[in-house]
Amino acid sequence: MKNRFLSALSLILVFAVVFGSFTFASAEETAEQDDSAPFRIHVTVNGDAKSERGFCWYTKAETDSLVEIEGVDPANITYEDVFEWEGNFCHKAKVTGLEPGAEYTYTVGSRDSRSEEGRFVTDDGDSSFEFIAIADVQASSAENFEKGANTLKAALKTLPGAEFILNAGDYTNDSTNEEWNLYAASFDAINLQYTHVPVSGNHDGFGCEYWFNNMFNLDTTESVQVKDGVNYSFDYGNAHIAVLNTNDLISVTIPQLKWLRNDMNSTDKDWKIIAMHKSPYTLGKDGKWPDAMYLQQSLTKVADECGVDLIISGHDHQYLRTKRLKGNKLDDNGATYVLLGTAGSKRYEVRKFLADSFMNTKFINTLIIQKGGYGNYWNGEDFESTKEENIGGCFNTISIDGGTLTFNSYILSDELTDESGERLITNTDTFTLEKETGKNEITFTGDNTTSEFEYAIGLIPSVAALAGYAFGIWLPKFLFIVPRILESVIVDDTF
Ligand SMILES: [Fe+2]
Repeated sequence: MKNRFLSALSLILVFAVVFGSFTFASAEETAEQDDSAPFRIHVTVNGDAKSERGFCWYTKAETDSLVEIEGVDPANITYEDVFEWEGNFCHKAKVTGLEPGAEYTYTVGSRDSRSEEGRFVTDDGDSSFEFIAIADVQASSAENFEKGANTLKAALKTLPGAEFILNAGDYTNDSTNEEWNLYAASFDAINLQYTHVPVSGNHDGFGCEYWFNNMFNLDTTESVQVKDGVNYSFDYGNAHIAVLNTNDLISVTIPQLKWLRNDMNSTDKDWKIIAMHKSPYTLGKDGKWPDAMYLQQSLTKVADECGVDLIISGHDHQYLRTKRLKGNKLDDNGATYVLLGTAGSKRYEVRKFLADSFMNTKFINTLIIQKGGYGNYWNGEDFESTKEENIGGCFNTISIDGGTLTFNSYILSDELTDESGERLITNTDTFTLEKETGKNEITFTGDNTTSEFEYAIGLIPSVAALAGYAFGIWLPKFLFIVPRILESVIVDDTF
């Protein structure tokens, strides 16, 4: 009996060891497969939007890099050296020689592990195209990244012909591996299918240096520096789009503005658009700090000088469109500034103490506050009206057709549904800009790169200009509204 018991026990032990080792081996195999699987995949504009794209992706283990694009000679794809970034491995590649106006399917990864099939389209160069713009998902949790991704999915449903997605920054809250992984889990499937145009937000640049440049493969040849963001620009259709890093010092430095001025003067495209993160015109939480006012004083001058039509930005988690402005005054020939609203779930109410001090309310055309429990709709007179359908994630569509630019902003409601049971999408703002085409001229043809020396020298007047604004203009205004800020803290519990 004892022997039979020992035999049975031995048999169980043998099974346990054999089965256990198989289980262990298969878990190890899976882990190996996972470690070489590509994630955080972005295909970005990099150079000529008609014929070139950049790719960036990550793997947990160090692997080779391989991009395969159907119908494209592998010799047209060049690779950068794989490098370790914060415990993962960053891969970058660039393709040249694409056909304009074509749709491509592709995969990225290594010889052993491939991504799902993605796609992108190239610019056909004619004067008709459309794209989506979102901002400030700025999430930390899987749930909130998913909410942001749902907003973007609603945008793609609304504008199925979108050729690229512009994200005006603050992808995550703290730019940690954990947050970028959660972002990837919610956004990778979308990003695989569209060209991406990234803008560096302060949460992608301040205190998390090089994260932004290491997350995307962008043309950095003209970027003043890449530590806290990237400046770059590109033509798309009959538009020229400059992406400005607003993390330099507290917003922009003189070398950045010089780059922007030269860049905008180096194009004869019909439409001139600036995309950046921080907003000069805002009634949100960040409108009271010196950087917003500094942008009102500095960035707007470049926009006016260069005939920029549209400036889109984020940062303050509400939607605000100005009337046309020039020299900080209403002007029918001036530029339109749009604060894009947040695609995410962190939303800011109006800081009424900024009205007519930091932000001239006569400039406001449309203001949509996406937060419940506060006055959430600007009706041109007061902030107290409430529209329940405005409580949700914001997305924007921009369509250009020759001399007409059509801009629409939408809210994907958190709670409300339409007749078919789908979450309600409300068109909260629409406007068109019209212009005569073929009128812009190139007035700058020189070298628009900035050497490290030029940048360092440029920081001295930048600090002086910033200090001048901060102490000469911003601080007196700020001190003047301190009593109203205190009242707001006590009465409305907002700062
Ligand atoms: Fe921000």
